[in-house]
Amino acid sequence: MSLGIAEFDRVLGGGLVPGSLVLLGGEPGIGKSTLLLQVCSHVARDHGTVVYVSGEESPQQVRLRAERLGVSGERILLLAETDLDAILQHLEATAPMLVVVDSIQTMSLDGVTGAPGSLSQVRECTVALMRFAKQRTVSVLLAGHVTKEGAIAGPGTLEHIVDVVLYMEGERHSAYRLVRGVKNRFGSTDELGVFEMVANGLVEVENASLVFTGGKGHAIGSVIVPVLEGSRPLLVEIQALTTPAGFGPPRRVANGFDVNRLLLIAAVLTKRARMRLSDQDVIVNVTGGLRIAEPAADLGVALAIVSSLRDRPITPGLVVFGELGLGGEVRGVSQPVRRLGEAGRLGFAGCVLPSESKLGASDGQGLQLLKVSSLSQAVARAFERDGGPSGEPAD
Ligand code: TYD
Ligand code: MG
Repeated sequence: MSLGIAEFDRVLGGGLVPGSLVLLGGEPGIGKSTLLLQVCSHVARDHGTVVYVSGEESPQQVRLRAERLGVSGERILLLAETDLDAILQHLEATAPMLVVVDSIQTMSLDGVTGAPGSLSQVRECTVALMRFAKQRTVSVLLAGHVTKEGAIAGPGTLEHIVDVVLYMEGERHSAYRLVRGVKNRFGSTDELGVFEMVANGLVEVENASLVFTGGKGHAIGSVIVPVLEGSRPLLVEIQALTTPAGFGPPRRVANGFDVNRLLLIAAVLTKRARMRLSDQDVIVNVTGGLRIAEPAADLGVALAIVSSLRDRPITPGLVVFGELGLGGEVRGVSQPVRRLGEAGRLGFAGCVLPSESKLGASDGQGLQLLKVSSLSQAVARAFERDGGPSGEPAD
């Protein structure tokens, strides 16, 4: 069943499977209720009756939000209730297409120990909703608050029970919201949906690459990398800043990137490209609040660091991808063609990529392909056009 929001459908693996139980987790205030109400609106319009169970907000509050979102409320039944037995009775009587429970932490069952939100209540309520979903073949969407540690009411308890776990993330100061698959019994888990929170709700961001590259400026210390989020290629800006370290060991800080990976890259830069980092603090930042887990970003991180260290931008119009080995070798990564496609689509001129990338004749997308097999070669290629003294040996 399509939920009428393509970004959400994609994260679900193409839509909602009837009878499935889906958990949408996220910190309070991130936008879960907003997104779920928008989903209700579309499903009510396209498919049939929807029940929205609100255990957190009064009907007046939900109504205010609905008005703000332009949700008419037709075919949406609002139930302000936290007693799950009562809720299930209502659901049996209405036979809806979709049920939204906001949030699982407010629900409770008679006969189960603990206050609402306690581990036992959350678990038993989820099990009861799962049973309902399967028996009646009705899909249920659950909102769940995430604790500071990133777990929904106790490590993993809920995740094991439900069919699909999605997380909604975003940075406080940014309007962008990411919905990410964490578990999916029906599809891939590494899909990503991108939204922007505006005055009347969440809107889909189709051209997400433009968000994460902030246009496509090539400042000093900035490199654009085509990463893959599930099946989706995304251009992401990686920034690095090197500054003289004070006394003590130099610091390595990474935002949106694995700090251990950064340590590895710094070591390879030092040993294999003769970059002097031992007296430099290094900060790496992925812009737009994205987290990159792909080794394909290694070479981009390395070149961003070199750019900051040299105080020179890399050649304008270039994107960079490739995995770095400890020997300073640049290794091939998956799906080079999709990465090049996204760069070409957004008007980039060239790409530094692993020489072992297998490409067909027309796969270059009109981009100038700078194939490299080592880090020092990549450094030479990425800064080639503006020449100037470098002091680093090319191989
Ligand atoms: P909400 O959906 O209530 O978050 P959650 O259910 O995850 O706790 O979203 C709350 C935030 O979203 C709130 O700070 C206001 C903002 N917001 C908008 O910017 N525009 C909107 O149209 C709506 C409904 C909320
Ligand atoms: Mg809410």
